[in-house]
This record gives sequence, structure tokens and C-alpha cells, in this order.
Amino acid sequence: MDLSNVRAWTRELWDALPLDGGKVIDATVGNGYDTVYLAGRVGEKGTVWGFDVQEQALEAAKQQLRGAGLLDRCRLIKDSHENVDLYVSEPVDGVMFNLGWLPGTEHVVTTQAPSTIKAVNKCLRLLKKGGLMTVCVYPGHPEGEKEKVALLAWAEALDDTAFDARVTAYLNITKRPPLLIAVARRK
Ligand SMILES: C[S@@+](CC[C@H](N)C(=O)[O-])C[C@H]1O[C@@H](n2cnc3c(N)ncnc32)[C@H](O)[C@@H]1O
Repeated sequence: MDLSNVRAWTRELWDALPLDGGKVIDATVGNGYDTVYLAGRVGEKGTVWGFDVQEQALEAAKQQLRGAGLLDRCRLIKDSHENVDLYVSEPVDGVMFNLGWLPGTEHVVTTQAPSTIKAVNKCLRLLKKGGLMTVCVYPGHPEGEKEKVALLAWAEALDDTAFDARVTAYLNITKRPPLLIAVARRK
């Protein structure tokens, strides 16, 4: 068992979600590792909408997807995830957020609490019954700390008759460890 990073925790949840022929949103495409995973899971009849604000990220993801023969089922969109409703109107099986900046860059462009909160709210409205939303949060930098505070308050306030919200956090790492927020729609 690998508990050494939050993405491994995320994959455990996603691996348990039936997705063949499904529709999902990758809200933070980055270099496309998660997009490739999602595109593989939805199969040839499925759809992945992928959002990122950086052309560089979308290009890297496109190359990966093309190399894996998965590009045809993906719609890569250069826009902020807070505008998800301009592009996606159908109910979706899952939404994945992996917050922060593009690995390997100067850390200039990062996700930010106000737009992240708008995006999770809009994505939750699109989530089907039984659907899953995961958010990996990295409070080790100032914007990430703001996102952590805002997202925990947001998740705590969700209607408990419609959603189950859970947080998975490290107990033994002292330097602002990452955490995973997962929300499932019950009805
Ligand atoms: C940690 S990376 C994502 C990693 C990615 N999931 C992967 O598998 O490689 C975070 C990404 O979020 C993007 N981002 C920042 N603000 C955004 C926004 N408002 N909407 C969508 N993407 C955003 C960044 O450009 C960056 O590429």
C-alpha cells in the first residue's frame, strides 16, 4: 500500500468508481497524468472535459493523450474551471481537482481559493447521484493554505442529506501536509 502521496489516495477512490462509457471532468489538467488516467477509465464511449488556464499544460497533456491513443475522447479547454458551466451541461460521473501549480514551472500560475470555490460549487451541481468529486489540496504555499481553509469550510457546510464529504489528512507530517477532500452525491 502506498500512502506516501495524496494522489495515491485519490486513485484508490477513483479505481472503485465504475466509469466505463462515463463522463468526467479533469478540472486541473496540468501535464495530463490524471487526464490520461481518466480517459483510460471512461473507455472509447466516454468523455473527459479537461480544463487548464495554461497553454503549456494543455499542450503537454495533448501530447500524452495522443501518445496513448486517448485524445479523441477528451475535450481540452483553455479556460478557468470556474467557467465549467459554459462548456459542460450534462450530468457527470466524477470531477477531479489537483490544485496548485504546474509541476516544473516557476510557480507563477496557481489555483486560487475564490475561483476554486466557484468551480467546486458548479461542478457539484453537475455531479450525478453516486458520483465522486476529489480535491487534492496543497497548503504548503500561501495560496494553498487559503484554499485549504476555504475548502474545508465549504465541505463542512454541504447538505448532509445530499452529500457525504470526507477529508483524508496526514497525522504525522508537521510541515503543512497535503490533504484530500472527497465528496460523493447521495441523491
Ligand atoms: C498540480 S497541477 C495539475 C496536475 C495534473 N492533474 C496532472 O496530472 O499532471 C495544477 C494545474 O492547475 C492549473 N490551474 C491553475 N488555475 C486554474 C484554473 N483557474 N482553472 C483551471 N486550471 C487551473 C495550473 O495551470 C496547473 O497546470
